[in-house]
Amino acid sequence: TILVLDFGSQYSHLITRRLRELNVYSEMLPCTQKIADLTWNPKGIILSGGPYSVYSDDAPHADPAVFDLGVPILGICYGLQEIAWNLDNKNVVAGEKREYGHAEVTVQKHAGKKAHIDRLFQNLGENLEVWMSHGDKLSQLPAGFEPVASTPNAPYAGIASIERPLFGIQFHPEVTHTPKGKQLLSNFAVEICGARQDWTMEKFVDKEIERIRAMVGPKGQVIGAVSGGVDSTVAAKLMQNAIGDRFHAVLVDNGVLRMDEAKIVKKTLTEHLGINLTVVDATDLFLGRLKGVSEPEKKRKIIGNTFIEIFQDKAKQIAEAAKDSPKAGDIEWLLQGTLYPDVIESISFKGPSATIKTHHNVGGLLEGMHLKLIEPLRELFKDEVRALGTNLGISEELVWRHPFPGPGLAIRILGEVNEEQLRIGREADKIFIDEIVAAGLYRKISQAYAAVLKDRAVGVMGDKRVYGQIIALRAVETTDFMTADWFPFDGEFLKRVSRRIVNEVDGVCRVLYDVTSKPPGTIEME
Ligand code: XMP
Repeated sequence: TILVLDFGSQYSHLITRRLRELNVYSEMLPCTQKIADLTWNPKGIILSGGPYSVYSDDAPHADPAVFDLGVPILGICYGLQEIAWNLDNKNVVAGEKREYGHAEVTVQKHAGKKAHIDRLFQNLGENLEVWMSHGDKLSQLPAGFEPVASTPNAPYAGIASIERPLFGIQFHPEVTHTPKGKQLLSNFAVEICGARQDWTMEKFVDKEIERIRAMVGPKGQVIGAVSGGVDSTVAAKLMQNAIGDRFHAVLVDNGVLRMDEAKIVKKTLTEHLGINLTVVDATDLFLGRLKGVSEPEKKRKIIGNTFIEIFQDKAKQIAEAAKDSPKAGDIEWLLQGTLYPDVIESISFKGPSATIKTHHNVGGLLEGMHLKLIEPLRELFKDEVRALGTNLGISEELVWRHPFPGPGLAIRILGEVNEEQLRIGREADKIFIDEIVAAGLYRKISQAYAAVLKDRAVGVMGDKRVYGQIIALRAVETTDFMTADWFPFDGEFLKRVSRRIVNEVDGVCRVLYDVTSKPPGTIEME
């Protein structure tokens, strides 16, 4: 295992990610991690970049024991300066200008007794395109170090110690803008540290199932909400494999799901995946509370709060019923499909408090039950969750499903939500998605839906003038859902979808296509 210490760079999680792509197992911990508290021995350590200056008073620093372990250390950007600062704190100064963007580094060659310091850059060629992002730089080399790579502006773009396995680079090998960055990380992890390349999804499954069983114990029970989305389904299937029916999945039908959604999810989870599922149909309660409400934030709040209320009630019922089972104990655990990017946001070095908040403060969530969190996907990125899902036998169709928001169709029906608007929204959405699938575009598009606008428009149908509903189609491409581009369908496709919706969905007389990117738009309408 390679230990990545996070000093807060926006790219830190990509380091772990690239190592996993090399099948090297790695774990990222806050930079303040005490080495004495580790329960495993790292084969090597990577110090990430970070937004601070090592010499400023509030700068975070690694446990000095990191440098006494004797394992190879690679400092990236801030990490390089942290190494230099640790050896001699006068070596780091503010750069004259901030260097940000593409740069070309020249790799240096050493002969004889120094040849071993070239290992980090081996097989990368003489010149290397890299991505720089830093303000500080080394004013002089720490004692015993040699430059191994340079740029015109950064004579110490790469440095290495002759005596000890210490390496530093001023650029980011983990980003795709450094095309050979992965090879460099492989040089460090595999060649220099000798890390094994044996991390696979099968291993992850075995290890995780073992971990879940150990945590929950022979009688412990777990409850969790499922939505039909990939994260909750994969998490639920993993729990089922680990503890069988001692895992209780709950699907709350909030009345604003897509067409036949509750039925489809039930069939998939119970019949195909063998998950112990309870469906609660709370449509009337949700729609009753949404009646007359048109303000988006209010709609979200009502749905969120009602969901917690229903889930809590059901959890208590299941817990009561479970008490009578001789095979099982109390429900003590709550399953959450938290992914790695969410975890990273909470493991900041700004103190352990943020971590405590997300990981222990769930006693209040299910009032009186004091549940502990279990998060089997917390080490994975989205595409790894998909790979895991496939590995667990979940259908490709489900594994590649577009995300669907918790407030459901309520934020895709502008203004007040009622049965008629829901019918129109569902029928139009189904036609749109079916056509996207038929055109082979579903995977290319990140999210797509049909929205029902608040106002009406005039149209002519047959010989009559009608005053009907307006459907707005939205389809976007995005990698992180933070920014998105609208999808450039061809005219024939849009024509076909529009014709079908107007002809087949009663009450609709117009179809629009939303050509707004995010920003300034959002992906959802409300
Ligand atoms: P926006 O509309 O903010 O959406 O561009 C970004 C992504 O988040 C989803 N989304 C939500 N998901 N509860 C959720 O579970 C919500 O309230 C919510 N609002 C937006 C949206 O579908 C998109 O994937």
